[in-house]
Amino acid sequence: MQLKSLTAILPLLATASAFPSLIARENDSNQANKSKTCVVPAGGSNATDDTPAINKAFTDCAKDGTVVFEEGVDYFVMTPFRATNLSNVDIHLKGNIHLPQDIPTVQAIVNATGTAWLSGVWMSLQGDDVSWYGSKNVSSGWIYAYGQAWWDKNAENPTGTGLLGRPHLANFELNNAYIDGWKVRKPIAWNMAISGTNFTIKNTIIDAFTSGGFPFNTDGFDIKADGVLIDGFTVSNGDDAVAIQSGAANVLVQNGYIGHHSHGMSIGSLGQNQGLFASVSNVTIRDITVDGAVYASRIKSWVGGQGLVSNVTYENFRLNNVTFPIFVTQTYFNQGSQQSQIENGAVTGRPNNSSVILKDISFRNFAGNINYYDPGDRSCVSDPCWYDASISDRENPGTHSVVLECSNSTTCSGFTMENIQVFPQPMLEPNVICINVGEESNPDLGFRCPGGNYNGTFVAV
Ligand SMILES: *[C@@H]1O[C@H](CO)[C@@H](O)[C@H](O)[C@H]1NC(C)=O
Ligand SMILES: *[C@@H]1O[C@H](CO)[C@@H](O)[C@H](O)[C@H]1NC(C)=O
Ligand SMILES: *[C@@H]1O[C@H](CO)[C@@H](O)[C@H](O)[C@H]1NC(C)=O
Ligand SMILES: *[C@@H]1O[C@H](CO)[C@@H](O)[C@H](O)[C@H]1NC(C)=O
Ligand SMILES: *[C@@H]1O[C@H](CO)[C@@H](O)[C@H](O)[C@H]1NC(C)=O
Ligand SMILES: *[C@@H]1O[C@H](CO)[C@@H](O)[C@H](O)[C@H]1NC(C)=O
Ligand SMILES: *[C@@H]1O[C@H](CO)[C@@H](O)[C@H](O)[C@H]1NC(C)=O
Ligand SMILES: *[C@@H]1O[C@H](CO)[C@@H](O)[C@H](O)[C@H]1NC(C)=O
Ligand SMILES: *[C@@H]1O[C@H](CO)[C@@H](O)[C@H](O)[C@H]1NC(C)=O
Ligand SMILES: *[C@@H]1O[C@H](CO)[C@@H](O)[C@H](O)[C@H]1NC(C)=O
Ligand SMILES: *[C@@H]1O[C@H](CO)[C@@H](O)[C@H](O)[C@H]1NC(C)=O
Ligand SMILES: *[C@@H]1O[C@H](CO)[C@@H](O)[C@H](O)[C@H]1NC(C)=O
Repeated sequence: MQLKSLTAILPLLATASAFPSLIARENDSNQANKSKTCVVPAGGSNATDDTPAINKAFTDCAKDGTVVFEEGVDYFVMTPFRATNLSNVDIHLKGNIHLPQDIPTVQAIVNATGTAWLSGVWMSLQGDDVSWYGSKNVSSGWIYAYGQAWWDKNAENPTGTGLLGRPHLANFELNNAYIDGWKVRKPIAWNMAISGTNFTIKNTIIDAFTSGGFPFNTDGFDIKADGVLIDGFTVSNGDDAVAIQSGAANVLVQNGYIGHHSHGMSIGSLGQNQGLFASVSNVTIRDITVDGAVYASRIKSWVGGQGLVSNVTYENFRLNNVTFPIFVTQTYFNQGSQQSQIENGAVTGRPNNSSVILKDISFRNFAGNINYYDPGDRSCVSDPCWYDASISDRENPGTHSVVLECSNSTTCSGFTMENIQVFPQPMLEPNVICINVGEESNPDLGFRCPGGNYNGTFVAV
């Protein structure tokens, strides 16, 4: 299973010559300024949980320290660890980290932590001035999460959307974070959530390629932080490669390859909780190659939410076999989960009385082809499929270069599209879907959505 995924990913890496080095920087200028080094001891097998030793290393080296996971050593992180109150700490992952392989063992731990956001997170870091260095060695510095066995058991959940009691891999609440060379194999669900300020994340590899069941909810990065650079990444997954969520601001994501059944470079979802004002501003996502994904670029907000997304640019996207190159919906819902009104409220009848406003959103320089012959992926367990649910033109799957589905004529404003050269695979004329796209609110859209409704002709300008 590991071999299969490697062979799937390596040819793709080989084509990524325009990307910055995928080799992690193991060193930084700050390294000298550490008063203490804590080498994490290892028990050597999964009969010994290394988490107590990891917690001790982070406690001992919490201030001006360096925490080292040694080269050639396998660490068995059998229970979650949480390192808090870090200050000026470097972390070097030179060996490999392994999560438990036994599913009921993990589920019991996750179940015991409840259902709140971040329950069951396996690796947590909190503090200021924290750097994480992966390994330059291709066979070490990995985190092995063993998600394949979980995905292969999707059917055991009656909704088919993945086993319950899944852990999320990492949550970082940090100010001034530098993460270089984060490498993960088969994350069971979300890979990394970040909140705080000033993150630089370089040279990431997330391998959620599946040889069997669909890798539901294997988000790459969930971003709620202010001041984020994500530069250089290879993500093969089955959910958002990047999900920019409420609280995110001043975000630049660049030089990425995303593939497999990825759900693309997303903003959202936003407005699920109707009582909270969702906010995202100043986001640029550029120089991205997308292969075989359902979406390339996407913005998703819920009916009846409130908030503002402003100043977003998607530019320089290269696409192959992508079902929806540009997709904006203000009637998003979450397949197979409770469609809550306000957090854990009622399931149905969200009042359609407000919307998260989307303002000043640009898409530029998209080139490539639309997945015409076999659109979508294997994540569908509903009819209509979740990714077709809001679309008024389901008869023509695999032909839409642009889907803009707004709540009313003013909720999407200042949208611009320039040089969108994407075509259904037989090189047909692409369709667009416009719903409630006000012409007055979007004078520079780049094509006409007459009457604010669908008109099957794409007029590039
Ligand atoms: C870090 O860099 C310094 C100076 O460039 C070098 O002397 C040191 O050996 C490096 N450390 C590691 C672990 O690579
Ligand atoms: C080392 O880091 C501390 C903060 O932990 C800072 O006060 C000090 O100025 C730094 N020293 C150097 C030489 O960078
Ligand atoms: C890379 O890591 C593997 C496994 O720890 C080790 O056997 C090998 O010697 C390392 N290679 C280099 C060049 O350090
Ligand atoms: C956090 O660490 C600082 C030293 O860096 C220490 O003074 C403080 O007591 C610690 N706080 C907690 C809650 O552990
Ligand atoms: C320990 O590892 C063995 C395989 O080496 C695996 O079968 C077993 O499930 C693991 N135990 C846990 C609790 O993950
Ligand atoms: C964890 O909870 C889920 C349902 O929430 C259940 O399907 C699973 O069997 C539980 N597993 C354990 C080991 O408690
Ligand atoms: C942002 O974080 C980096 C470490 O990655 C640090 O060098 C830099 O000083 C931080 N910037 C600010 C404004 O704090
Ligand atoms: C917008 O975000 C970028 C990072 O993508 C940052 O360089 C720039 O300063 C931000 N602009 C404002 C006005 O904050
Ligand atoms: C809007 O986005 C552009 C491009 O990233 C950036 O240069 C500018 O600072 C942003 N403006 C604001 C007000 O955030
Ligand atoms: C459109 O929706 C916005 C946001 O919910 C609302 O403020 C506005 O009044 C609505 N406009 C129309 C014409 O319905
Ligand atoms: C496009 O992706 C679909 C899966 O969604 C796959 O079945 C098909 O073979 C791919 N086509 C090409 C040309 O890569
Ligand atoms: C769609 O809009 C284009 C551009 O305004 C126009 O030329 C074309 O006739 C329209 N097609 C239909 C079917 O209304």
